[in-house]
Amino acid sequence: MCGIVGYVGKTLDGKAQNVVMEGLARLEYRGYDSAGIALVTESGVETEKRAGKLENLRSALEAHPLHDSRTGIGHTRWATHGGPTDGNAHPHRGGKGDKLALIHNGIIENFHSLKKELLAEGVEFRSETDTEVAAKLVGAEFDAVGDLTTAMRNVVNRLEGAFTLLAVHADVPGVVVGARRNSPLVVGLGEGENFMGSDVAAFIGYTRHALELGQDQIVTITPDSHSVINFDGSPAEGKAYEVTWDASAAEKGGYDSFMAKEIAEQPDAVANTLLGRTKDDGELVLDELRISEDQLRNVDRITFVACGTAAYSSLVAKYAIEHWTRIPVEVTLAHEFRYSDPIVDDRTLVVSVSQSGETMDTLMAVKHAKELGALTLSICNTQGSTIPRESDAVLYTHAGPEVAVASTKAFLAQITAAYILGLYLAQLRGENYADSAKVLMTELREMPAKIQDVLDRMDRVVEMANFMADTRSVLFLGRHVGFPIALEGALKLKEIAYIHAEGFAAGELKHGPIALIEPGQPVFIVVPSPDSPHELHKKVVSNIQEIRARGARTLVIAHDGDEDVVPFANEIIRVPQCSPMLAPLLTVVPLQVFALHLAMAKGLDADQPRNLAKSVTVE
Ligand code: AGP
Repeated sequence: MCGIVGYVGKTLDGKAQNVVMEGLARLEYRGYDSAGIALVTESGVETEKRAGKLENLRSALEAHPLHDSRTGIGHTRWATHGGPTDGNAHPHRGGKGDKLALIHNGIIENFHSLKKELLAEGVEFRSETDTEVAAKLVGAEFDAVGDLTTAMRNVVNRLEGAFTLLAVHADVPGVVVGARRNSPLVVGLGEGENFMGSDVAAFIGYTRHALELGQDQIVTITPDSHSVINFDGSPAEGKAYEVTWDASAAEKGGYDSFMAKEIAEQPDAVANTLLGRTKDDGELVLDELRISEDQLRNVDRITFVACGTAAYSSLVAKYAIEHWTRIPVEVTLAHEFRYSDPIVDDRTLVVSVSQSGETMDTLMAVKHAKELGALTLSICNTQGSTIPRESDAVLYTHAGPEVAVASTKAFLAQITAAYILGLYLAQLRGENYADSAKVLMTELREMPAKIQDVLDRMDRVVEMANFMADTRSVLFLGRHVGFPIALEGALKLKEIAYIHAEGFAAGELKHGPIALIEPGQPVFIVVPSPDSPHELHKKVVSNIQEIRARGARTLVIAHDGDEDVVPFANEIIRVPQCSPMLAPLLTVVPLQVFALHLAMAKGLDADQPRNLAKSVTVE
């Protein structure tokens, strides 16, 4: 949940500071309750750090400039141990003369016992953080062995938990050493300069040549070299890849917010996720499949593990995959999975869904599933992240960088990937949907244009958001695949507009929630297409009647041509017609736009909502 940047170059000038600060600006969404920088200069290691947003650090550096440097590290923090204060901000110092500076992302789970040992040796601490313990250990180790890579290796083998560490030392200018376990770290390879970052956004403006590190690895960079070893000291190779995102993709591109930009990018996110999924004959193919087709044919249960919005895309997947493959599918919140004594064996496919690929709850669920013998497949938007690397197979979404904390385009890409997975399994298992997989893939390819059509119809939704700015509670109803969309619509409003909102299955109304309906209560209702099976449409229309009769303000999301809803709707937001199972790709968009514009009407920062971070890498 923190942003990490490292740089090493050849010239003693202001570039190291500039690269680090630019990188932190691009990574600020990963956590922003404090920020700091360390540079190795001719005066030794110089650091500056401030609580609050990155702007506070910038102001401090303007007031007290650091000397020229060619080696630097920087950090934006989302507090876990110790509150967001200047003292707890990273970098932390260690070793004789405080010559070492270190930054960290993650949690060192055994830091209490290590700190106790250090305190007994008379070591003094300035912060409450687990990070400072690592700084003290690496600093002391450097004093003993005189080599930063060896010092790092000796220390990380004593640490438990999830961590990315970066360190510099006054005695070795031109060197940055990084180590990772269960936490992100990528290397950027330049000409006469090298970079490190929590993700490629940290250095995307300088190089697109990246190196993916594996679990429990240490990387040492100098201006002209990089070397990777495993924690046991054996040599290792990172996995080189080209970053396809250009610099502008990580910027706002003219929109008021990253969230607005990312909502607008949804047609591309779906289209790009569909790209390259079928052979010329229409047969479906997946990414990095390290599970044999026979193993997949043998699967008799599928369990999705995910959190938040990713859990709601998993709920959509349940309806689709069960319908197409007739395999039982369940969705378990990742943080519940390990403690629910799950029924998992070697015929269970555990599918994790994660935009960041770093959500600790989801990562730990995947690890637990593997311990139980399950096959694991990751649906993920971030190449080289931890969860895909832990999984037997990967189905990458190609939504591009999602910077806003509130997930939007990744959500649609996750649903798309789940559809692809369901159709792939149906095709592999020769289920009766195998032949219609091609039909559905064809319709899926038409969805980006339909999503764009919905985006072009949002004027009224923006108006609604503006005149509802003082709303204090909104309810969301849906049935079948509309139910997860109701949950997602409520989550968006909670997390960026700070309004109490609740989503529930429309059929649940009469079992309690209808008591909440009073005159003027705004209720969004996601209406299935009129040609949905099992009279689904008719049932939802009667739900709208029930709440309208009790004075609710009914805000209806309905397909083009659906006239049955008209008599009971205070507002109708139309979406194009499509197959009932694919409707979530369209019906969620007005709810995203509504939440964004209501947050804007309240003058809130939709990209960095209070108390939240983009990637929650603590359990
Ligand atoms: C959604 O808008 C939230 N940001 C949050 O619920 C998020 O979906 C959840 O934390 C999972 O994150 P992940 O997809 O990166 O694993």
